[in-house]
Amino acid sequence: MATHSAAARIGELRTLLHRYGHQYYVLDQPEVPDAEYDRLFRELQALEEAHPDLQSPDSPTLRVGGQVLDGFIKVRHQVAMLSIRTETDIEATGAQNFDGRVRRELGLAADAAPVEYVAELKFDGLAINLRYENGVLMQAATRGDGEIGEDVTQNIRGINQIPLRLPADAPPVLEVRGEVYMRRDAFAALNERQREKIALGAKGEKTFVNPRNAAAGAVRQLDPAISRQRPLSFFAYGWGEITPAEQGGPAFETHYQTLLTLRSWGFPVAGQTSLATGADDLIAFHQRIGKERDQLPYDIDGVVYKVNSLALQKQLGFVTREPRWAVAHKYPAQEQLTTVEAIDVQVGRTGKLTPVAKLAPVFVGGVTVTNATLHNEDEARRKDVRIGDTVIVRRAGDVIPEVVSVLPGKRLPGAEPFTMPRICPVCGSAAVREEGEADYRCTGGLFCKAQRKEAILHYAQRRAVEVEGLGDKLVEQMVDANIIQTLPDLYKLGLTALTALDRMAQKSAQNIVAALEKSKSTTLPRFLYGLGIRHVGEATAKELARHFGKLDSIMDATEARLLEVSDVGPIVATSIRTFFDQPHNREVVEQLRACGVTWEESEPAAQTPKPLAGKTFVITGTLPTLSRDEAKDRLEAAGAKVAGSVSKKTHYLVAGEEAGSKLVKAQELGVAVIDEAGMLALLA
Ligand code: IVH
Repeated sequence: MATHSAAARIGELRTLLHRYGHQYYVLDQPEVPDAEYDRLFRELQALEEAHPDLQSPDSPTLRVGGQVLDGFIKVRHQVAMLSIRTETDIEATGAQNFDGRVRRELGLAADAAPVEYVAELKFDGLAINLRYENGVLMQAATRGDGEIGEDVTQNIRGINQIPLRLPADAPPVLEVRGEVYMRRDAFAALNERQREKIALGAKGEKTFVNPRNAAAGAVRQLDPAISRQRPLSFFAYGWGEITPAEQGGPAFETHYQTLLTLRSWGFPVAGQTSLATGADDLIAFHQRIGKERDQLPYDIDGVVYKVNSLALQKQLGFVTREPRWAVAHKYPAQEQLTTVEAIDVQVGRTGKLTPVAKLAPVFVGGVTVTNATLHNEDEARRKDVRIGDTVIVRRAGDVIPEVVSVLPGKRLPGAEPFTMPRICPVCGSAAVREEGEADYRCTGGLFCKAQRKEAILHYAQRRAVEVEGLGDKLVEQMVDANIIQTLPDLYKLGLTALTALDRMAQKSAQNIVAALEKSKSTTLPRFLYGLGIRHVGEATAKELARHFGKLDSIMDATEARLLEVSDVGPIVATSIRTFFDQPHNREVVEQLRACGVTWEESEPAAQTPKPLAGKTFVITGTLPTLSRDEAKDRLEAAGAKVAGSVSKKTHYLVAGEEAGSKLVKAQELGVAVIDEAGMLALLA
């Protein structure tokens, strides 16, 4: 009797969890809060533990857990998993070749009606066959050689977007085919976690080359617990065996209708999937998706066109292992091989030193690439990129091209490992790497020529000191012509120097001189902000001015005194101190004052204590509402120190979703672990 009611409750819970899971993972429209889902999930887990005989292959609890395998079992596909022919012409008009072939093979006259197609995305992941029997996911297999694949059911169950159970109108046998892939953000987060693990000395860990590789690795991972830490997604685009209409199965007539039905059964089908009439629509689709490609949250390497009518598909048939009714139409590849001609170190706007590989020009992801970032010292060392190396470059989405890996065995003899310079390659100031930071920065500030142009534009912008009419082009000309070495030179420019610049009319030069004159009377917050001290934004500049009242007090304040300012945390305090410790930055300030830049000063404001002063935090994983930077800012503004790694000195670890090694370390050391809500409570 007790078992009967347990069985009923188990059934109820599974149904609810299937529904909520689908709403959350597929529709992006959750009906209940996460906590409610978790509560039901735990109730089900407990009931199943107490009644192991009631476990079932479609239970949502099987999405977590599972056994470490020795190897994968081979699976013979009931219906072969075919591959697809690739159109070699990558121009949009290449679609005409496919339409032309289809029309010829169907024997259509030139004036016959256009053929109807379905245009889809070509996802860059790996093909999977999902077999459902009586509505329950029984087996998931990789494509393998098309005839025989591998049973990866355990890992595939962990993909929340894949239904474990189908609605009652699904046929008794249904095989759904589609692509398992990893989103670009999940890929970036995974690699970030991997880098963290490597930095903490974890053995046998590596970063992944691209999302497809990471997805394939996760699917073919023998330990389901590891597979689960690498979040995967799924899109359905086809099917294999299916109960025939004569035996009560669905009577599909078109590919499109089938996809819509799969969607109604809970499978994700990409929103871009469209009906297309004739070659013109295919061309337009290729063009449109080509433009959207960089904005998609996942990699695609092309689009796929399929004849919509299943009867026509049958008529067209196959050549070897490729159907005549489908074609893949690619976009420029996102990865290419090239060689490293040099490794430069570039100095960015904020003084950040970035090692950049200078490449033999190569066409990647639709553009010719000659530079690829190596990110920072650790990355460059880890990838061990050396001059002369043959490397894989990747450019996907809007991100800057990066060197993915070096081809071993192609290294030239005598190639030296890369070392990061300890002085700024542009101005010779010290380059320093702060604790817990990955980057080196030039400490030269306004003195550094590489930063000068940005520094001047920053100073001259409306929200800073405001020099009307001093824009991008003009500043570039001034810096290139070497008539401005430091900020104060702006005020020493005469009409003669200005009119000597290319395309500078007398009248414009007069306007600039007048604007410069006007800019001399400003306010302390505007001036402070205009100096472009790292981490000192407008709000911080205002607080500093309010707190200290006078510029000299700020310039001479110790870090401890700076920390008293609300809005100033340890990183900001150090940054201000470092800036004013550079004699050339003080010189710049003195000269600006000497040139007549003035503001009103006031008395220092009364002090307010900071609630989290003296506490050290570490943030890890993805927080539900705040970015890590936002969380860090808030903590620092409340006086806390935010460190990069967990140690005995850490007071709190703020852990979000997919917290990795830091969480483990915190637990080992007995450091208090809180979530975002806990952090916000402390801040309040
Ligand atoms: S259809 C009979 N549609 O591309 C046609 N494949 O060789 C079977 N792929 O490994 C494939 N997106 O994993 C089809 N919308 C899509 C696809 C797609 C990606 C992959 C598939 C297969 C390869 C085709």
